[in-house]
Amino acid sequence: MARGELMKKLLASYGNDDEFRSVAERIINEEEKKNNKVLANSLRRTLENSRAVGSNYSLKGLERFSPMNEATNDFVERVEPSHFHKDLVLSFDNVRILKGLIEEYRFAEAIRKNGLSLRTKLLFCGPPGCGKTLTAEVFASTLGLPMFIVKLDKLMSSYLGETATNIRSIFEFANNKPCVLFLDEFDAIARSREDSNEHNELKRVVNSLLLFIERLSPKGFMIAATNLDKSIDPAVWRRFDEVIWFKNPDKGMIRRFLKSRLKNIKYDFNPDNYVYKLEKMSFSSLERVLNQAIKSMIIGKHKVLNERYFVDAINDEHRRNSGVEQMR
Ligand SMILES: Nc1ncnc2c1ncn2[C@@H]1O[C@H](COP(=O)(O)OP(=O)(O)OP(=O)(O)O)[C@@H](O)[C@H]1O
Ligand SMILES: [Mg+2]
Repeated sequence: MARGELMKKLLASYGNDDEFRSVAERIINEEEKKNNKVLANSLRRTLENSRAVGSNYSLKGLERFSPMNEATNDFVERVEPSHFHKDLVLSFDNVRILKGLIEEYRFAEAIRKNGLSLRTKLLFCGPPGCGKTLTAEVFASTLGLPMFIVKLDKLMSSYLGETATNIRSIFEFANNKPCVLFLDEFDAIARSREDSNEHNELKRVVNSLLLFIERLSPKGFMIAATNLDKSIDPAVWRRFDEVIWFKNPDKGMIRRFLKSRLKNIKYDFNPDNYVYKLEKMSFSSLERVLNQAIKSMIIGKHKVLNERYFVDAINDEHRRNSGVEQMR
């Protein structure tokens, strides 16, 4: 469509967020096709930022997403994104997969017109503190979609209490509204359904939840996160269009993480010399090391992060983690 026509459509969509976004996306795509990459990127960033936390526009936009059902408030939490790309360190493989999913979503109409379906049900697997929740949040903010975290353990106990309507309303919501529905603690249902210790009633609940997931055809995405891997029932795997593996950071990722987190801090040492001491730590451990070191700097009234503070914080994290190991 000619640029003038798109501009007219854009103005006509004033007040209608969905329409506005779709026209804006088309303008960006047209610019990309014309190879105006700089303009396209800058427009995309502007569009994304306009959805960022704190902007009135974003809050107004989200108002349309009325609460699913008052009773679901106990186990569904709406998250306003507070993290963006720059906060996230991912493996190159995962960046590629996530970018592919974003592209698919942006070309949804054309893909569906060709009789193909989108990958919208994703499973994030990996140990604690390696970025499953953070990635889901950044993914939602990149797409300008609101994110809802469903606490599965609470949902299941509510289900046992015969409140199936709550569950139905969550899934119906995701079928009708473009959002990222994040099923946290998916372990609760990902564990083998054959687990002989499981209560029969629980098995029934798990099976019907899996059926809901199977029937779900989200307008946006459904992402489930689990710490489990091999013990996941094959019947669970096949309900997901894509599985993304998260691991603790390797040396390269640790370096990237340190560089990004120390960007606005002055320090008197080379952080790369400590990468070997940080290996095997999760990202959340790394985050804690840096936060503790920076707090010591503030308390010590220093303007520069001293090597000693950094080393103390690393040792403290090792001490803390070794305690956890011993308790296992
Ligand atoms: N890939 C990452 N890049 C940058 N920071 C990260 C990454 N992963 C984790 N972090 C840091 O660790 C914190 C915890 O990460 P997150 O909550 O995403 O872990 P998780 O994989 O969801 O863990 P859990 O299994 O316990 O839910 C984040 O808020 C962030 O500060
Ligand atoms: Mg998490």
